[in-house]
Amino acid sequence: MKVLEINGKHELSGSIRISGAKNASVALIPAAILAEEESTICNVPEITDTDALCEILEYLNVGVKRASESIIIDPSDMKNLELKDIYCKKLRASYYFMGALLGKYKKVTMCFPGGCSIGKRPINLHLKGFEALGAIVSSEGNKYNVEADELRGANIYLDFASVGATINIMLAAVKAKGVTIIDNAAKEPEIVNVATFLNSMGAKIMGAGTSTIRIEGVEILHGCFHEVIPDRIEAGTYMIAGALCGNRLKIDNIIPTHVEALISKLQEVGCEIEQGEDYVVMTKPAQFKSTNIKTGVYPGFPTDLQQPFTVLLTQAKGKSKIEETIYENRFMHIAYLNLLGADISVKNQTATIFGPTTLVGGHVVATDLRAGAAMVIAGLIADGTTTISNIDHILRGYEEIVEKLISVGAKIESKEI
Ligand code: EPU
Repeated sequence: MKVLEINGKHELSGSIRISGAKNASVALIPAAILAEEESTICNVPEITDTDALCEILEYLNVGVKRASESIIIDPSDMKNLELKDIYCKKLRASYYFMGALLGKYKKVTMCFPGGCSIGKRPINLHLKGFEALGAIVSSEGNKYNVEADELRGANIYLDFASVGATINIMLAAVKAKGVTIIDNAAKEPEIVNVATFLNSMGAKIMGAGTSTIRIEGVEILHGCFHEVIPDRIEAGTYMIAGALCGNRLKIDNIIPTHVEALISKLQEVGCEIEQGEDYVVMTKPAQFKSTNIKTGVYPGFPTDLQQPFTVLLTQAKGKSKIEETIYENRFMHIAYLNLLGADISVKNQTATIFGPTTLVGGHVVATDLRAGAAMVIAGLIADGTTTISNIDHILRGYEEIVEKLISVGAKIESKEI
């Protein structure tokens, strides 16, 4: 079994370069099949989630050339094959092939997507969107068939500003006849990045990044060159680590406005943050103050940083609260933090944290990707050695996490035990 072993209480200084955004890349890779020609996407993180999507492309007979952080995707000989469970269950973002294949071929057959077990995560809003565009959806067990004679633009109101549904509907609508309007669309930066890619391919999308997106269907999309935005969640994870153990730890290659909600909360708990155009510098303050956090859709406090931030609040003086409003089951890290010495209780989607508490190293589990990130941060501040198992979850989303942390002074290694 592969584990991460961390020896805590070492100061972090130097610079960490943030990779391309996982949640943008995992949509851009499927989006590339909508073109008739090859596209190059650069700054794609080398993580297992992007590897899994490249495997799906290869299965669909799409040409994939990967050179370090660039991927060249050539769909000119692709085949529209059924995506079996074995491909879909590997990651949540396999669902973007639903919109992309439907948009390209007007037909897709695939299974329910996998991903972290942090809630039920239905895809009803995606399917409702496809139906509004004229598709017929049928399902048998976990297999879905979505098919249309013709996709026609439509007005679609999302009951919830879902990231996945917004992107998937964009993918299905770019080549539909007429105009599609998505209302109450999600506004995350990853959506803007995907819309920019599609527009470079010849699509006509306006309003991405606002709650109303207008898509005028086009007949043909061509290949293009595109760059992935920096990963705001990876940046946020290292910013929290820097707040806890940093001595001028620079988090480089970021877009600071993408992490504004986090910066504001870090300042509220006592951090002084030096900000540049594409970096922040984090230093541990003398003491942390408690605070209350409620997760929300962008530009609210991201649910993906809720788990790492909980670790910081175990070091804050007094009572803090974190309310999780996006997922029903994103508190699995709490039991493990308590095992290390934290004092946290959970009731009705709210974690109440009393601090400061001394964390002492022990054996913990990465129950999901961001819970895993929280365990790494806990290990960095704990006395002694922390061993984290189930690290595949972490490797799905953090490029070279061990190397990056070692380079700034952490004592962390990946081990086979
Ligand atoms: N929802 C529905 N029906 C739908 C779609 C979503 O009820 O058809 C619900 C979900 O169950 C959830 C909420 O709406 O309670 C938010 O879901 P959303 O669709 O916005 O999230 P997602 O597309 O499944 C993406 C990221 C997540 C991130 C969320 C929110 C990818 C591959 N995943 O998920 O990232 O937490 O947006 O920002 O882009 C992570 O990186 O650790 C991660 C989980």
